[in-house]
Amino acid sequence: MRASPNTTEGLEGKIQRPDFGTYHHTTTRASEETREMVKVLFRETFDRLPFSQDDRLKILDMGCGLGFLSCFCAEYYPSAMITGIDTFGHASLKGSSLARAKDNARILGFSERIRFEKGDILRADYGKAGFDLFVTSLVFHNLGKRRFDAYERLARWVTRKSYVVLGDVFFDYERDIGRLKKLFESLQERPGLTSEGVYKVLVLSKPRERPI
Ligand SMILES: C[S@@+](CC[C@H](N)C(=O)[O-])C[C@H]1O[C@@H](n2cnc3c(N)ncnc32)[C@H](O)[C@@H]1O
Repeated sequence: MRASPNTTEGLEGKIQRPDFGTYHHTTTRASEETREMVKVLFRETFDRLPFSQDDRLKILDMGCGLGFLSCFCAEYYPSAMITGIDTFGHASLKGSSLARAKDNARILGFSERIRFEKGDILRADYGKAGFDLFVTSLVFHNLGKRRFDAYERLARWVTRKSYVVLGDVFFDYERDIGRLKKLFESLQERPGLTSEGVYKVLVLSKPRERPI
């Protein structure tokens, strides 16, 4: 049997498939369905960004987990370089690890273009690396009230030319939107639905000038 683009043939001819894991409070099947919905929303969103698919973008996947969104970015933008960062210790993705994320990228043939590393959104500074696109899915709501600090940190990393595509479930949507509007001049929304509740994709750009 030949490997499909989403698999690779390992030693002894065994077909290997990526495993992007099971989200907390859900099942493996529901997690896979969620990822299918997220892919549709991100594809539609990427189609509308002012980048060409062949651009050599630098992309940061914040809270990459087992690399689902990093791999989707690598597929959509075939010339992009992607960095996936995660604490790899959070209960929101069962059995997540740096090694397993790397394995998924290898299986899909993306090892040359995706670098996974340990990193904490609430501690590290991702403002100096010059990312063109910041992506994230199902991460910020896990931070509780600290997500508001994370939004502020993110707004400092984004330049006037870069974009954020933030997908998440919003349990207090008006409050989150209120905070984000204070940080970004431009905010657009695409609604979706997961078993966990209302999932939305927000496109954020043009961070507001703030006094230091
Ligand atoms: C529900 S998982 C989503 C993983 C991946 N984005 C996806 O869609 O499959 C949430 C991820 O956020 C990560 N995370 C939580 N707090 C974080 C932090 N402060 N910095 C970086 N990653 C964090 C967790 O380790 C976990 O992998």
